[in-house]
Amino acid sequence: MKKQLVALVMAGAMAFGLVGCGGSGSVASSEPAADAGSSADAEMSAAPSGSEGAGSAAASDGSGVQVGIVLPTKDEPRWIQDETRFGEILEQAGFTYQVLFSQGSSATEKANVETLVSNGVQVLILCPQDSAAAASTVDYAADNGATVISYDRLITGTDKLDYIVGFDSTSVGVAQGNYLIEQAGDTKGNPLYLYAGATTDENAFLFFEGAWQVLQPKIADGTFVIKNSSEAEALADTPELDRDQMSTILGQITTDWDFEVSKSKAEANLTAASAEDKGDVFILAPNDGTSRSIADVFAIDPDVTSYVITGQDAESASIQYIIDGKQSMTVLKDTRLLSQAAVDMATQILTDGQADTNAVYDNGAAEIPMYQMEVLSVTKDTMQEYIFDSEYYDAADFTGLE
Ligand code: BGC
Repeated sequence: MKKQLVALVMAGAMAFGLVGCGGSGSVASSEPAADAGSSADAEMSAAPSGSEGAGSAAASDGSGVQVGIVLPTKDEPRWIQDETRFGEILEQAGFTYQVLFSQGSSATEKANVETLVSNGVQVLILCPQDSAAAASTVDYAADNGATVISYDRLITGTDKLDYIVGFDSTSVGVAQGNYLIEQAGDTKGNPLYLYAGATTDENAFLFFEGAWQVLQPKIADGTFVIKNSSEAEALADTPELDRDQMSTILGQITTDWDFEVSKSKAEANLTAASAEDKGDVFILAPNDGTSRSIADVFAIDPDVTSYVITGQDAESASIQYIIDGKQSMTVLKDTRLLSQAAVDMATQILTDGQADTNAVYDNGAAEIPMYQMEVLSVTKDTMQEYIFDSEYYDAADFTGLE
């Protein structure tokens, strides 16, 4: 699958100003619709807390949900950020909407989409649990009249997907890899530990592909020495990995996006490594949750004298870790802009029948129009500007800032 940016036909076309002028006229309510509460049982029972209430508004008259949002899990702060942003924007835009969580299960995701379809959803914004398994769920929603947007995570293998809104995922990996390279400077023989996301998530491949693009020449020239993946080592001279090669590596270094898996994999890697494989180490961690888990393991190993570790999502806990010197960087994928772009897309679909895009992505079944956004690297040096000046977070909520 190959992503290609097409000419930016609509420069600035995703006018944020569109939100609020949606022509639907329905009134949003913070109360769940009568039928939504019961039909969302699958999600309600699986969700640990707070599933009702925040972000689960639907039509006050029970007449239907214009915009339905399905997010993968409440167990990662990343997706709570998205839920919060959606709530704010959709309330303001005056849409009837409902946000449901799939709690790590494609079956719950399907049940959530069925709920939304039975609530008359017009635009479905779906962040899949499993990129491939979600195809049949998309087909179901599309066959029932919904326009479907793949949100952040890609949905593969269906030509019924209408749009994608997301970040340039390859560039996330490039930013992570480049950070490790900068920190290594001219030194050679630096121990490198590689970790990746869930193999069911297409983004995990794109993140790794981006990181490999920049890291591979530095592995080949001896700057880095891979310590925890025989499969990656075996392919150290291959600049461009094909899908099978990437699958083989990811099979070995996957975290499943799970904190416990990350922790136990890091522990196993350090147990297997000799003292010479440690020292000043470099760690490619795919996102913030996994980064904190892995960092905690490396931090207590007596043979690890220092570590540099990447992340992604600018979760508040990781911003604190970066301030405290426990995580080195993160990649900001501004959820304010992402949720706004998704709602702009929904607004355009509901008013004009189509939305503006600036890229296309071949999802294996069709070329899907995409609205793609850029990411920012956050370190101690750029934090003030990207996180606090931009009001992504309030500096007062963190400790240890000078
Ligand atoms: C998202 C990341 C997130 C990860 C784990 C990916 O698809 O792009 O932002 O950290 O899933 O939930």
